[in-house]
Amino acid sequence: MNRIPFISGNWKMYKTGSEAVETAKKLVDLCFDVKNVEVMIAPSFLSLPLVAACVQGTHVKIGAQNLYFEKEGAFTGEVSAGMIKTAGAEYVIIGHSERRQYFGETDTSVCRKLRSAINEGLKPIMCIGETETERDQEKTFLILDKQVSDGLKGFGSDELKDLVLAYEPVWAIGTGKTANTKQVNEVHQYLRSLLCKSFSKDFSSRTRILYGGSVKPENVKELMSIKDVDGALVGGASLDPDKFIKIIKYYL
Ligand code: PGA
Repeated sequence: MNRIPFISGNWKMYKTGSEAVETAKKLVDLCFDVKNVEVMIAPSFLSLPLVAACVQGTHVKIGAQNLYFEKEGAFTGEVSAGMIKTAGAEYVIIGHSERRQYFGETDTSVCRKLRSAINEGLKPIMCIGETETERDQEKTFLILDKQVSDGLKGFGSDELKDLVLAYEPVWAIGTGKTANTKQVNEVHQYLRSLLCKSFSKDFSSRTRILYGGSVKPENVKELMSIKDVDGALVGGASLDPDKFIKIIKYYL
């Protein structure tokens, strides 16, 4: 099965509206000859419609960094899937480890968020990954197993046709540490077989599994050439278009 590589940038809580637009414009220019790899950036909610307007009709797609699972209502400070979709996003990141760590997200809320994204026609990027302690205690596969089975509980494979999984070891996010080739390889292989076991061989072979955690131009070749790695979710290095394009161009 041919999986189109996917390079996505998570801008987190960086960039004002005008900074985001300026960065996005520069990225669009740099992507003029990009093909055969999907490119996405996820700006803050405030910048999302501005950035969506300036990348419209280009190779660069838009994602949100989060959503709230209710359709609408008295939920001060929250943003729904429908609002995100109409603002111009195609993707949404769900269950990022910073959401789990600082905002109390659980596998149950991740599952509800997925449901709401899918109902609204947004393509979900579900983030999973173990902490350093969990890895030290040899619980990595146990944790991933739980995050996948609880996060995807109740879904049929046809509902998940646009699902993207992102394996992001928590200890490698924003730390400059990256998982080594062996670690990434065994996790991605494990996830591929988990999807096969839980759904089907066909589903497993068409679902993209990204790696995330300190991906940068210097290590993109080593990480992206690992079997079963279909692209990257990039934080820090996606903020600078000159760096981000080098990551994208690994696939050209
Ligand atoms: P990082 O972030 O590339 O800065 O480590 C990755 C992420 O949080 O998705």
